[in-house]
Amino acid sequence: MKHLLKLQDLSQKEILEILNMADQLKFEKKNGIAHPWLAGKTLGMIFQKSSTRTRVSFEVGMYELGGYALFLSADDLQIGRGEPVQDTARVLSRYLDGIMIRTFSQQEAEDLAAYGSVPVINGLTDYAHPCQVLADLMTIREIKHSFAGRRLCFIGDGNNVANSLIVGAVKMGMAVSIACPKGYCPDAEIMKWAEENGSFLCTEDVREAAKEADVLYTDVWASMGQEREADERRQLFAGVYQINDKVMETARPDAMVLHCLPAHREEEITERVLEAHSAEIFEQAENRLHVQKAVMVKLMGEK
Ligand code: CP
Ligand code: NVA
Repeated sequence: MKHLLKLQDLSQKEILEILNMADQLKFEKKNGIAHPWLAGKTLGMIFQKSSTRTRVSFEVGMYELGGYALFLSADDLQIGRGEPVQDTARVLSRYLDGIMIRTFSQQEAEDLAAYGSVPVINGLTDYAHPCQVLADLMTIREIKHSFAGRRLCFIGDGNNVANSLIVGAVKMGMAVSIACPKGYCPDAEIMKWAEENGSFLCTEDVREAAKEADVLYTDVWASMGQEREADERRQLFAGVYQINDKVMETARPDAMVLHCLPAHREEEITERVLEAHSAEIFEQAENRLHVQKAVMVKLMGEK
């Protein structure tokens, strides 16, 4: 594993190794055991989009591993004035031990990895959010203790998070069902891969997708960069593509609820469901820290 650009690039074994190390790091942190495994290492964090969880968890994670993280807003870098990513990659590789990038185009993250010589971590693109889904898998395993035979249902827009969830959950042996309006499905190639490699369903029918689900998951109807479509999307999704009490009744009685956050209450999830499942959702947010520390150790630690 040289980079973390998308979960397609990881085997089930590699995902399990990351989750196991994340569990260990979480245990050590809770028990006051220091783990300066990246002492003296630096991570550059390029942000073309806003962030709360990703920025803070990477920065704190690097600090806790004994390293240093630099917040690099794309607006302040020359990349924001048109310097090609190919040049940025080669320059930053001479200063840094690793780069995390949050941007629009997946190709930009892939180019950064191709032209640079240090590990690149995808901190969200329009196509994928692999760090998020590693934290989601960690949370599912903590609460449900197993993946195989369990059903994960995602309700809402077939976006970056949905794309990565499908790949991650199918790789771990979960059945996956997606409920989304026509025209807002996840990536076609990912869906084809999921159909060929696991149990996968994509439907407009929320009840059909949520039936017998062990995990219900949702995300915003309009992602970053889609702000101008927000009204149109709201009209299309409203009242249907939402995790609410009725949907909870369709799922298994002990179903857990996840949301990558930020959440829009009464849009993709009701306040009631979010608060009833806040322990799971905020554990999920916390797990970003532990899982990303594991990813950084795997990519940037001594081999
Ligand atoms: N879930 C997530 O990536 O949150 P941020 O946008 O706050 O980083
Ligand atoms: N799908 C959302 C996720 C935010 C963490 C977005 O891309 O804005």
